[in-house]
Amino acid sequence: MLEANRINAFYGSSHILHGVELDVPVLGRVAVIGRNGAGKSTLLKSIMNAGPTVDGEVRWEGRSLKGLPAFKRARLGLQLVPEDRRIYQHLTVRENIRMAAYATAPGRTPIPAQEIVDRFPMLQPISERGGGQISGGQQQMVAIARAIACRPRLLLLDEPTEGLAPAIVEQLAISVRELCEAEQAALLLCEQNIWFARQTTDTVLVMDTGRTAFRGSWQEFDADPDIKQRHLAV
Ligand SMILES: Nc1ncnc2c1ncn2[C@@H]1O[C@H](COP(=O)(O)OP(=O)(O)O)[C@@H](O)[C@H]1O
Ligand SMILES: [Mg+2]
Repeated sequence: MLEANRINAFYGSSHILHGVELDVPVLGRVAVIGRNGAGKSTLLKSIMNAGPTVDGEVRWEGRSLKGLPAFKRARLGLQLVPEDRRIYQHLTVRENIRMAAYATAPGRTPIPAQEIVDRFPMLQPISERGGGQISGGQQQMVAIARAIACRPRLLLLDEPTEGLAPAIVEQLAISVRELCEAEQAALLLCEQNIWFARQTTDTVLVMDTGRTAFRGSWQEFDADPDIKQRHLAV
């Protein structure tokens, strides 16, 4: 469904990604893991055309996305939840979720805010609170809920567990798995939390300094302890 071929990405004259290849099949769930600064966020931004200058090809359902701005990619069904979450501080949680209507593909109806709140137990007690008055974990939930409300075909999550307490991380893993299944959405997840990545995906891509160091199933990943030593240990 999503193919990224020979992706090179640049910030000004800094060459960050070097020939990265990625493939997310229909309903596929792929994790991108790697140390801080490996280029995970840059890869997601390259796929969305939201930041770096990109050379290479991003294909969506067989068609090249060349030249399409980020908001048009969103309307094709790619929804990125960036690491800074972008919650509107002065809108309530419910209003934040309603904003999804603006990023939904033409011809698709966003999921009503109430239905989303009903589906996320964590959002129920806070739905009328201001976006600036909730915890980091709650903000992450709202950001994911808002993305899901657009009925994405592919959900791109950038380090959703960063800064969250372990109990919240467990809850988030369950929610993400359930929502992707219920909405028939594929998942592309960047994470440093390997436990969370395992819970939510089937295949894994390891990035090291802007290059693909490994691609395979979690079983293959486990069979090669060298990968962890070389590309993940700090
Ligand atoms: N806006 C930017 N301008 C210049 N360099 C950047 C920018 N964003 C990230 N970088 C650099 O690109 C590299 C990869 O960063 P990033 O994709 O954020 O890695 P990760 O998400 O794996 O931690 C790092 O060396 C980082 O310093
Ligand atoms: Mg990052």
